[in-house]
Amino acid sequence: MNTPHESAVLVAEEFVALYGREPEGVWQAPGRINLIGEHTDYNDGFVLPVALPHAARVAVARRDDGRVRVHSSQGDGVVVEFTVDSMAPGSVEGWAAYPAGALWVLREEGHAVPGIDLHLDSEVPFGAGLSSSAALQCAVLLACDELLGLGIERPRLARLAQRAENDYVGAPVGVMDQTASLCCTEGAALFLDTRDMSQRQVPLDLAAGGLVLLVVDTRVEHGHADGAYRHRRAGCERSADLLGVKALRDVDVEAADGAALDALLARLPEEELRRLTRHVVTENARVLAAERLLAAGELRALGPVLTAGHASQRDDFAISCPQSDTAVDTALAHGALGARQTGGGFGGCVIVLTEPVRVAGISAAIEAAYAAEDGWNAPAFFTATPAPGARRLG
Ligand code: GLA
Repeated sequence: MNTPHESAVLVAEEFVALYGREPEGVWQAPGRINLIGEHTDYNDGFVLPVALPHAARVAVARRDDGRVRVHSSQGDGVVVEFTVDSMAPGSVEGWAAYPAGALWVLREEGHAVPGIDLHLDSEVPFGAGLSSSAALQCAVLLACDELLGLGIERPRLARLAQRAENDYVGAPVGVMDQTASLCCTEGAALFLDTRDMSQRQVPLDLAAGGLVLLVVDTRVEHGHADGAYRHRRAGCERSADLLGVKALRDVDVEAADGAALDALLARLPEEELRRLTRHVVTENARVLAAERLLAAGELRALGPVLTAGHASQRDDFAISCPQSDTAVDTALAHGALGARQTGGGFGGCVIVLTEPVRVAGISAAIEAAYAAEDGWNAPAFFTATPAPGARRLG
């Protein structure tokens, strides 16, 4: 991977080649992995993501004619054009809906959005559960915020990015990915309470703990705009209604184990609702436990928490898939301390907490396990170090 500075120079050069003028600046926003706290964000719960070194970059220059031009190195080579005035949900589709949604939401908020030329280039793999779409939107939103001098606080920008994805793109996602992209800091995980957006940086020095986070891309593409994510979200909201709470976050996490939880679940009329609820309640408890372990420097003890999170996604929330289950089981069988699927689910990436000496063996074993199955894509691997959140590069 190029350094951020080298990448910024390249993106700026490509902008000049495309549009025949210099950009006013280059911004970047990272993708993320989530350590723990899956499908808790739209239940007003807790999450613990980490920013990746992989980022989306955008070179930007304003125009004075109200027109927007957008190009992406990952697109089909076409420059998508529209006017600021014509932006409405559904008016721009495909990858360009992400930058268009970011401009749209600023206009919806009452900001004077000028015409603009944008060139995007992202190294966050698409469809791998690493928040490639949030990275694009956050890069464009931060660029506009700083270029137009809007002074919007980052947690608020994250909410705007979420609204763009919910209302413009049409994906009913929570606020974790956008907040991770905008608010994470280097060397730390971000503990976020998605109800009030309060947050704290939790130092995560894996190397000092003699550990590494291996990311396994199952190469099973996932999506959020589809029915499965929406269905689970609706189920959680129904359960909250039936239990008489505003959101499942309000179920006491002390009830996360044992009889109290069983008694609570018994009030729900369907097995599916009981399973969804059990996942969210126990997952919130796991985020709090993980945050306490990180704060105490007990990194190795994080492993079983991650693995329990995977079991809950597999057995209760039903969002794992054979490839992610195999990656988790194989990693554990080859000495990993813990492993779980990260992100929205149904594929994407698995994170593995392990010692550096075990990485080669675990990777080879997962490769072999995938190769033994018919029709499975070969997995891809990288190790993750907590990177900085979104920022201006030049
Ligand atoms: C996707 C969504 C997030 C969150 C996760 C699951 O990444 O964008 O808001 O719901 O799934 O934790």
